[in-house]
Amino acid sequence: MIDTIKEYLEEVEKFTATSIEEIERFRVKYLGKKGVLSEFFAAFKNVPTDQKKEFGQVINQLKTRATEKVNHLKDSLETNSLPSGKYGDLTRPGEPLPLGARHPIAIVKNQIIEIFSRIGFNVSEGPEIEDDWHNFSALNLPEHHPARDMQDTFFIQTHPDILLRTHTSSVQVRYMEKHQPPIRTISPGKVYRNEAISARSHCFFHQVEGLYVDRDVSFADLKQTLQYFTTEMFGKSKIRLRPSYFPFTEPSAELDVYWGLTNEIDYRITKGTGWLEIGGCGMVDPNVLANCKIDPEEYSGFAFGVGIDRIAMLLYQIPDIRMLSENDVRFLEQFKSSL
Ligand code: PHE
Repeated sequence: MIDTIKEYLEEVEKFTATSIEEIERFRVKYLGKKGVLSEFFAAFKNVPTDQKKEFGQVINQLKTRATEKVNHLKDSLETNSLPSGKYGDLTRPGEPLPLGARHPIAIVKNQIIEIFSRIGFNVSEGPEIEDDWHNFSALNLPEHHPARDMQDTFFIQTHPDILLRTHTSSVQVRYMEKHQPPIRTISPGKVYRNEAISARSHCFFHQVEGLYVDRDVSFADLKQTLQYFTTEMFGKSKIRLRPSYFPFTEPSAELDVYWGLTNEIDYRITKGTGWLEIGGCGMVDPNVLANCKIDPEEYSGFAFGVGIDRIAMLLYQIPDIRMLSENDVRFLEQFKSSL
Protein backbone atom coordinates (compact mmCIF):
# COMPACT_ATOMS: atom_id res chain seq x y z
CA MET A 1 0.00 0.00 0.00
CA ILE A 2 2.92 2.30 0.77
CA ASP A 3 4.03 1.99 -2.84
CA THR A 4 0.61 3.09 -4.03
CA ILE A 5 0.81 6.15 -1.84
CA LYS A 6 4.25 6.91 -3.23
CA GLU A 7 2.85 6.75 -6.75
CA TYR A 8 0.15 9.19 -5.73
CA LEU A 9 2.83 11.44 -4.31
CA GLU A 10 4.61 11.50 -7.64
CA GLU A 11 1.38 12.29 -9.39
CA VAL A 12 0.78 15.17 -7.01
CA GLU A 13 4.26 16.58 -7.65
CA LYS A 14 3.78 16.44 -11.40
CA PHE A 15 0.30 17.90 -11.46
CA THR A 16 -0.24 21.28 -13.09
CA ALA A 17 -3.46 23.05 -14.00
CA THR A 18 -4.57 25.89 -16.19
CA SER A 19 -8.05 26.42 -14.82
CA ILE A 20 -9.71 26.67 -11.44
CA GLU A 21 -11.95 23.72 -12.36
CA GLU A 22 -8.96 21.44 -12.88
CA ILE A 23 -7.58 22.44 -9.50
CA GLU A 24 -10.94 21.78 -7.89
CA ARG A 25 -11.11 18.30 -9.44
CA PHE A 26 -7.62 17.61 -8.15
CA ARG A 27 -8.58 18.83 -4.70
CA VAL A 28 -11.68 16.63 -4.54
CA LYS A 29 -9.73 13.62 -5.74
CA TYR A 30 -7.13 13.88 -3.01
CA LEU A 31 -8.53 15.96 -0.21
CA GLY A 32 -12.29 15.57 -0.67
CA LYS A 33 -14.51 13.70 1.79
CA LYS A 34 -14.41 10.57 -0.29
CA GLY A 35 -10.97 11.28 -1.66
CA VAL A 36 -7.82 9.23 -1.76
CA LEU A 37 -6.59 10.55 1.55
CA SER A 38 -9.74 9.74 3.53
CA GLU A 39 -9.50 6.21 2.22
CA PHE A 40 -5.94 5.88 3.38
CA PHE A 41 -6.71 7.38 6.75
CA ALA A 42 -9.59 4.92 7.12
CA ALA A 43 -7.28 2.06 6.19
CA PHE A 44 -4.75 3.14 8.77
CA LYS A 45 -6.31 1.14 11.59
CA ASN A 46 -5.81 -2.10 9.70
CA VAL A 47 -2.15 -1.53 9.03
CA PRO A 48 0.11 -3.89 11.00
CA THR A 49 1.62 -2.10 13.99
CA ASP A 50 5.21 -2.35 12.77
CA GLN A 51 4.31 -0.51 9.56
CA LYS A 52 2.12 2.14 11.20
CA LYS A 53 4.92 4.63 11.64
CA GLU A 54 6.08 4.64 8.03
CA PHE A 55 2.54 4.50 6.73
CA GLY A 56 1.53 7.46 8.88
CA GLN A 57 4.48 9.48 7.65
CA VAL A 58 3.78 8.95 3.96
CA ILE A 59 0.08 9.70 4.13
CA ASN A 60 0.79 12.85 6.08
CA GLN A 61 3.35 13.81 3.47
CA LEU A 62 0.81 13.19 0.72
CA LYS A 63 -1.73 15.35 2.51
CA THR A 64 0.71 18.25 3.00
CA ARG A 65 1.98 18.13 -0.55
CA ALA A 66 -1.54 17.96 -2.02
CA THR A 67 -2.71 20.91 0.11
CA GLU A 68 0.37 22.94 -0.83
CA LYS A 69 -0.15 22.14 -4.46
CA VAL A 70 -3.74 23.34 -4.42
CA ASN A 71 -2.79 26.61 -2.68
CA HIS A 72 0.18 27.21 -4.90
CA LEU A 73 -1.73 26.58 -8.13
CA LYS A 74 -4.60 28.80 -6.99
CA ASP A 75 -2.19 31.62 -6.12
CA SER A 76 -0.36 31.52 -9.40
CA LEU A 77 -3.59 31.34 -11.33
CA GLU A 78 -4.83 34.42 -9.47
CA THR A 79 -1.73 36.49 -10.09
CA ASN A 80 -1.70 35.54 -13.76
CA SER A 81 -5.30 36.51 -14.21
CA LEU A 82 -5.26 39.87 -12.38
CA PRO A 83 -8.02 42.07 -13.69
CA SER A 84 -6.36 44.15 -16.35
CA GLY A 85 -7.84 47.37 -14.92
CA LYS A 86 -5.44 50.18 -14.15
CA TYR A 87 -5.38 49.55 -10.40
CA GLY A 88 -5.63 45.76 -10.33
CA ASP A 89 -7.98 44.14 -7.85
CA LEU A 90 -9.23 46.91 -5.58
CA THR A 91 -10.79 44.45 -3.16
CA ARG A 92 -7.45 42.94 -2.16
CA PRO A 93 -6.31 43.88 1.34
CA GLY A 94 -3.57 46.52 1.42
CA GLU A 95 0.09 45.81 2.03
CA PRO A 96 1.04 47.06 5.52
CA LEU A 97 3.56 49.92 5.38
CA PRO A 98 6.46 49.64 7.81
CA LEU A 99 6.18 52.44 10.39
CA GLY A 100 9.24 54.38 11.47
CA ALA A 101 9.93 55.83 14.91
CA ARG A 102 11.16 59.23 16.03
CA HIS A 103 14.85 59.42 16.77
CA PRO A 104 15.65 59.93 20.48
CA ILE A 105 17.49 63.16 19.62
CA ALA A 106 14.36 64.49 17.92
CA ILE A 107 12.18 63.42 20.85
CA VAL A 108 14.37 65.25 23.36
CA LYS A 109 14.76 68.29 21.10
CA ASN A 110 10.98 68.61 20.74
CA GLN A 111 10.53 68.27 24.48
CA ILE A 112 13.02 71.07 25.13
CA ILE A 113 11.29 73.30 22.58
CA GLU A 114 7.96 72.59 24.21
CA ILE A 115 9.24 73.34 27.72
CA PHE A 116 10.75 76.69 26.71
CA SER A 117 7.83 77.69 24.52
CA ARG A 118 5.70 77.62 27.69
CA ILE A 119 7.76 80.50 29.10
CA GLY A 120 7.76 82.55 25.93
CA PHE A 121 10.87 81.39 24.04
CA ASN A 122 10.67 81.08 20.26
CA VAL A 123 12.84 78.82 18.08
CA SER A 124 15.60 80.13 15.81
CA GLU A 125 18.17 78.39 13.64
CA GLY A 126 21.44 79.14 11.93
CA PRO A 127 23.77 77.45 9.43
CA GLU A 128 26.04 74.53 10.34
CA ILE A 129 28.73 75.85 8.01
CA GLU A 130 29.65 79.13 9.68
CA ASP A 131 32.05 81.99 9.27
CA ASP A 132 34.68 82.99 11.77
CA TRP A 133 32.74 86.09 12.88
CA HIS A 134 29.62 84.28 14.05
CA ASN A 135 31.34 81.27 15.61
CA PHE A 136 34.25 83.11 17.25
CA SER A 137 35.05 86.80 16.77
CA ALA A 138 31.64 88.27 17.60
CA LEU A 139 31.56 86.04 20.67
CA ASN A 140 34.53 87.81 22.14
CA LEU A 141 37.00 85.28 20.77
CA PRO A 142 39.28 87.34 18.53
CA GLU A 143 41.86 85.69 16.31
CA HIS A 144 44.71 84.05 18.27
CA HIS A 145 42.64 84.07 21.46
CA PRO A 146 43.76 80.97 23.39
CA ALA A 147 40.15 80.06 24.24
CA ARG A 148 39.58 79.19 20.58
CA ASP A 149 41.42 75.97 21.41
CA MET A 150 38.72 75.03 23.92
CA GLN A 151 36.85 73.62 20.95
CA ASP A 152 38.78 71.72 18.30
CA THR A 153 37.52 73.09 15.05
CA PHE A 154 36.97 71.62 11.60
CA PHE A 155 38.04 74.29 9.11
CA ILE A 156 37.26 74.31 5.42
CA GLN A 157 40.77 74.04 3.94
CA THR A 158 40.37 76.36 1.00
CA HIS A 159 38.55 79.03 3.04
CA PRO A 160 40.24 79.63 6.40
CA ASP A 161 37.34 81.87 7.41
CA ILE A 162 34.76 79.12 7.00
CA LEU A 163 34.27 76.29 9.48
CA LEU A 164 31.78 73.81 10.87
CA ARG A 165 30.23 75.54 13.85
CA THR A 166 31.61 74.28 17.14
CA HIS A 167 28.59 75.41 19.15
CA THR A 168 25.13 76.85 18.66
CA SER A 169 26.30 80.13 20.27
CA SER A 170 26.81 81.33 16.68
CA VAL A 171 23.03 81.54 16.41
CA GLN A 172 22.95 84.00 19.35
CA VAL A 173 24.99 86.38 17.23
CA ARG A 174 22.86 85.88 14.14
CA TYR A 175 19.69 86.39 16.12
CA MET A 176 20.89 89.55 17.92
CA GLU A 177 22.12 91.04 14.64
CA LYS A 178 18.56 90.84 13.35
CA HIS A 179 16.47 91.51 16.48
CA GLN A 180 16.51 94.11 19.22
CA PRO A 181 15.45 93.15 22.77
CA PRO A 182 13.33 91.84 24.29
CA ILE A 183 14.80 88.56 22.99
CA ARG A 184 13.80 85.13 24.19
CA THR A 185 14.93 82.42 21.81
CA ILE A 186 16.26 78.89 21.78
CA SER A 187 18.33 77.49 18.91
CA PRO A 188 18.64 73.73 18.55
CA GLY A 189 21.08 72.21 16.09
CA LYS A 190 24.06 70.11 15.17
CA VAL A 191 27.60 71.09 16.11
CA TYR A 192 30.98 69.69 15.15
CA ARG A 193 34.28 69.24 16.95
CA ASN A 194 37.45 67.57 15.85
CA GLU A 195 37.53 65.19 18.78
CA ALA A 196 38.39 61.53 19.13
CA ILE A 197 35.25 59.41 18.95
CA SER A 198 34.47 57.34 22.04
CA ALA A 199 31.48 56.10 24.02
CA ARG A 200 31.20 59.53 25.66
CA SER A 201 32.13 61.99 22.91
CA HIS A 202 31.64 62.29 19.17
CA CYS A 203 32.87 64.62 16.43
CA PHE A 204 29.31 65.81 15.94
CA PHE A 205 26.53 66.20 18.44
CA HIS A 206 23.54 68.38 19.23
CA GLN A 207 23.04 71.45 21.38
CA VAL A 208 20.25 73.80 22.28
CA GLU A 209 21.26 77.39 22.82
CA GLY A 210 19.12 79.68 24.93
CA LEU A 211 19.27 83.46 24.86
CA TYR A 212 17.36 85.98 26.92
CA VAL A 213 18.09 89.71 26.53
CA ASP A 214 16.04 92.50 28.05
CA ARG A 215 16.29 95.29 30.61
CA ASP A 216 17.41 94.14 34.09
CA VAL A 217 18.00 90.47 33.35
CA SER A 218 19.96 89.00 36.24
CA PHE A 219 21.87 85.87 37.15
CA ALA A 220 18.94 84.91 39.40
CA ASP A 221 16.72 84.84 36.27
CA LEU A 222 19.20 82.50 34.64
CA LYS A 223 19.29 80.17 37.60
CA GLN A 224 15.53 80.12 37.95
CA THR A 225 15.06 79.40 34.24
CA LEU A 226 17.51 76.49 34.36
CA GLN A 227 15.86 75.17 37.49
CA TYR A 228 12.47 75.27 35.74
CA PHE A 229 13.95 73.51 32.72
CA THR A 230 15.58 70.64 34.61
CA THR A 231 12.49 70.07 36.73
CA GLU A 232 10.27 69.87 33.65
CA MET A 233 12.76 67.80 31.68
CA PHE A 234 13.91 65.30 34.28
CA GLY A 235 11.46 65.67 37.13
CA LYS A 236 14.56 66.47 39.18
CA SER A 237 15.24 69.94 40.46
CA LYS A 238 18.61 69.60 42.13
CA ILE A 239 21.08 71.54 40.03
CA ARG A 240 24.55 72.91 40.55
CA LEU A 241 26.17 75.92 38.89
CA ARG A 242 29.94 75.55 38.95
CA PRO A 243 31.99 78.67 38.20
CA SER A 244 33.58 78.35 34.78
CA TYR A 245 34.90 80.37 31.89
CA PHE A 246 33.47 81.21 28.48
CA PRO A 247 34.72 84.26 26.58
CA PHE A 248 31.16 85.24 25.63
CA THR A 249 29.64 85.20 29.12
CA GLU A 250 30.65 86.87 32.38
CA PRO A 251 30.22 85.46 34.93
CA SER A 252 30.10 81.93 33.48
CA ALA A 253 29.06 78.62 34.92
CA GLU A 254 28.80 74.94 34.13
CA LEU A 255 25.33 73.44 34.66
CA ASP A 256 25.14 70.07 36.43
CA VAL A 257 21.98 68.10 37.17
CA TYR A 258 21.83 65.60 40.00
CA TRP A 259 20.51 62.38 38.55
CA GLY A 260 21.47 59.87 41.21
CA LEU A 261 23.09 56.48 40.91
CA THR A 262 20.43 53.84 40.55
CA ASN A 263 22.06 51.52 38.07
CA GLU A 264 25.23 50.74 36.20
CA ILE A 265 24.44 53.00 33.27
CA ASP A 266 23.88 56.03 35.54
CA TYR A 267 27.19 55.19 37.09
CA ARG A 268 28.97 55.13 33.76
CA ILE A 269 27.35 58.27 32.33
CA THR A 270 27.97 60.33 35.46
CA LYS A 271 31.45 58.93 36.05
CA GLY A 272 30.29 57.59 39.37
CA THR A 273 29.32 60.96 40.84
CA GLY A 274 25.57 60.99 40.18
CA TRP A 275 26.06 64.50 38.72
CA LEU A 276 25.81 65.08 35.01
CA GLU A 277 27.18 68.14 33.29
CA ILE A 278 24.62 69.11 30.70
CA GLY A 279 25.90 72.48 29.49
CA GLY A 280 27.41 75.89 29.99
CA CYS A 281 25.78 79.21 30.80
CA GLY A 282 26.34 82.74 31.98
CA MET A 283 25.49 86.41 31.59
CA VAL A 284 26.04 87.62 28.03
CA ASP A 285 29.30 89.56 27.93
CA PRO A 286 28.70 93.28 27.20
CA ASN A 287 31.21 93.05 24.32
CA VAL A 288 29.02 90.46 22.63
CA LEU A 289 25.94 92.68 22.93
CA ALA A 290 27.93 95.59 21.49
CA ASN A 291 29.24 93.42 18.62
CA CYS A 292 25.62 92.76 17.73
CA LYS A 293 24.59 96.42 17.98
CA ILE A 294 22.68 96.03 21.22
CA ASP A 295 23.40 98.71 23.82
CA PRO A 296 25.01 97.01 26.86
CA GLU A 297 24.25 100.07 28.98
CA GLU A 298 20.55 99.54 28.49
CA TYR A 299 20.27 95.79 28.19
CA SER A 300 21.63 92.68 29.83
CA GLY A 301 21.02 89.03 29.14
CA PHE A 302 21.79 85.44 29.88
CA ALA A 303 22.70 82.56 27.59
CA PHE A 304 23.08 78.85 27.97
CA GLY A 305 23.96 75.88 25.80
CA VAL A 306 22.95 72.33 26.68
CA GLY A 307 23.88 69.04 25.04
CA ILE A 308 20.90 67.14 23.65
CA ASP A 309 22.79 63.86 23.22
CA ARG A 310 23.77 63.80 26.88
CA ILE A 311 20.18 64.34 27.94
CA ALA A 312 18.87 61.64 25.59
CA MET A 313 21.49 59.20 26.89
CA LEU A 314 20.47 59.88 30.44
CA LEU A 315 16.72 59.70 29.85
CA TYR A 316 16.82 56.57 27.73
CA GLN A 317 19.76 54.89 29.46
CA ILE A 318 21.84 54.81 26.28
CA PRO A 319 25.34 53.69 27.27
CA ASP A 320 27.24 54.81 24.15
CA ILE A 321 26.86 58.09 22.21
CA ARG A 322 27.76 56.32 18.95
CA MET A 323 24.48 54.43 19.04
CA LEU A 324 22.75 57.73 18.30
CA SER A 325 24.28 57.95 14.83
CA GLU A 326 24.75 54.34 13.77
CA ASN A 327 21.17 54.05 12.51
CA ASP A 328 20.76 50.47 13.63
CA VAL A 329 17.03 49.85 13.18
CA ARG A 330 16.96 47.51 16.17
CA PHE A 331 18.04 50.46 18.31
CA LEU A 332 15.75 52.98 16.61
CA GLU A 333 12.66 50.78 16.79
CA GLN A 334 12.84 50.83 20.56
CA PHE A 335 11.61 54.43 20.52
CA LYS A 336 8.32 53.65 18.77
CA SER A 337 6.33 54.06 21.93
CA SER A 338 7.98 57.32 23.00
CA LEU A 339 6.12 60.54 22.22
N1 PHE B 1 28.87 77.40 23.74
C1 PHE B 1 29.26 76.77 24.96
C2 PHE B 1 29.79 75.37 24.62
O1 PHE B 1 29.50 74.85 23.59
C3 PHE B 1 28.13 76.65 25.92
C4 PHE B 1 27.59 77.96 26.37
C5 PHE B 1 26.52 78.55 25.72
C6 PHE B 1 28.17 78.62 27.44
C7 PHE B 1 26.03 79.76 26.15
C8 PHE B 1 27.70 79.82 27.86
C9 PHE B 1 26.62 80.37 27.22
O2 PHE B 1 30.51 74.77 25.41
